[in-house]
Amino acid sequence: MTRVLGIETSCDETSAAVLEGRADDVTQRSLVILSQDVHSIFGGVVPEIASRAHLTAIVPVVERALHEASMTTADLDAIAVTHAPGLVGALLVGVSYAKALAFSRGLPVVGVHHMEGHIFGTSLDHPEAVPPFTALLISGGHTLLLDVESWGHYRLLGGTRDDAAGEAFDKVGKLLGLPYPGGPHIERIARHGNPDRYRFARPMTRRDQKPGDGDYFDMSFSGIKTAVRNAAQGCDLDAERNDLARGFQDAVIETLTEKTFRAARMFGRTRVVLGGGVACNRTLADTMRAKLAEIGAQLFAPSPRLATDNAAMIARAGLFRIESGERAPLHLNAYASLPIPGMVGAH
Ligand code: KG4
Ligand code: ZN
Repeated sequence: MTRVLGIETSCDETSAAVLEGRADDVTQRSLVILSQDVHSIFGGVVPEIASRAHLTAIVPVVERALHEASMTTADLDAIAVTHAPGLVGALLVGVSYAKALAFSRGLPVVGVHHMEGHIFGTSLDHPEAVPPFTALLISGGHTLLLDVESWGHYRLLGGTRDDAAGEAFDKVGKLLGLPYPGGPHIERIARHGNPDRYRFARPMTRRDQKPGDGDYFDMSFSGIKTAVRNAAQGCDLDAERNDLARGFQDAVIETLTEKTFRAARMFGRTRVVLGGGVACNRTLADTMRAKLAEIGAQLFAPSPRLATDNAAMIARAGLFRIESGERAPLHLNAYASLPIPGMVGAH
């Protein structure tokens, strides 16, 4: 059995977690997440503020995670830390701290790709969410549709050509006058919206598309956002905010559902795994679950705590990497962008 401390500081959450286990038999012993509310004042994450906040939070957050797990560093076998992608200054806080702690305690350290963390995170809620599966990762910065043959082997099927799904939610939230981040607020008010008032185009979902076409799996959200902006400019926003949110969300959900359905059907997958903050959206999960039932595939959506950024998913991916024999050198660095290890492109 291996005990792993995970550390995540890629954006505006300082998080630490302890897991123990072997292969897919894993127990989460603790998870601490400190969110930096300050960014909501600025309508987005301010990188320099994020780095400074991580600096003051990192030590108490790790100590708290160890305490909740009833462990000390002497009980650990390894440390896993997010080293890409994200805000470099923010990532460096976690990476430097993890390396120093590992060096001082004589522990191995491994760098984890944040998006690989999201691929693993859902399995902590649902032990059946293991490969092979279709994965849809939808966060504020990324939108990736993957076929996962086994842990560590990821085939990139498609992604966004412009805005990430979460980014589109946040931008539309802003133009509807909702607080940042917009995603949860749009979902909330869309429940009261009239689905027939606004029907925005669903980009790249034509029926005559075939596997092999460049846009069969790819997605685009900026056109929907522009359509919402144009509609919002010509209307009484207070009267139609809910309807606009509903029209927007329906268009995004239908696009994501269609692309994911195509991927699961083409690879004959019976499991589909969602990851990333947008996976908190219940309307999305319900719609997708119903559609996937047509091909007998089951949907696994993470709980909100594991969908948004957290260190448990980093520790889980790190456990896999450690068990595969990986060790990072002490010059492990942070990178703003980096391909997911083991990912091959299909186009
Ligand atoms: O994965 P995450 O916590 O951070 C990134 O790595 O980006 O994702 C944050 C994103 C934000 O864009 C936020 O608006 C979106 O997840 N989000 C949602 C919902 N909850 C969070 N989007 C749609 N519906 C939600 N209920
Ligand atoms: Zn994330």
